[in-house]
Amino acid sequence: TFSEAEKAAITSIWAKVAGHADDIGAEALERLFLSFPQTKTYFSHFDLSSNSKDLHNHGGKVLKAVGIAAQHLDDLDRALSTLSDLHAQKLRVDPGNFRLLSHAIQVTLAAHFPKEFNAVAQAAWDKFLSVVSSVLVSKYR
Ligand code: HEM
Repeated sequence: TFSEAEKAAITSIWAKVAGHADDIGAEALERLFLSFPQTKTYFSHFDLSSNSKDLHNHGGKVLKAVGIAAQHLDDLDRALSTLSDLHAQKLRVDPGNFRLLSHAIQVTLAAHFPKEFNAVAQAAWDKFLSVVSSVLVSKYR
């Protein structure tokens, strides 16, 4: 559960991302794949070159899901239930990869919003993305 201050930090940064979800998502994925090339194995069917349409499409989907989560901070299990089924039962992404993506998203936010994404905001996002990740891996069996 999140404090009021954490909620404010999460939703105020999300408001800045919202109109640019595809671009910011594509950059987060590019950082993920460059820093942690093993994560590319899940996306062999995508064009992973810099700025590709696939990176923008998929990055946008991922960030918009993060945005839905940001708007349901008191109800993340329900808000992410379908995505959780998909990642755990169908995609079977190794749970360790969620930390790597969370890191790439935070670096991207820091690069785009250096003033707003200060230490307090980053700590809130770190917690937020870790809770989102634990919901997405919660249905593994
Ligand atoms: C698909 C969100 C983490 C691999 C998706 C989709 C969304 C999403 C919204 C599209 C679902 C649909 O088409 O209905 C997220 C979020 C994550 C996360 C919010 C964590 C914050 C990861 C990680 C990996 C991964 C860590 C692997 C490194 C995939 C793959 C697909 C997918 C392979 C299917 C892509 C396709 O073929 O279209 N994810 N994801 N996801 N995700 Fe994730």
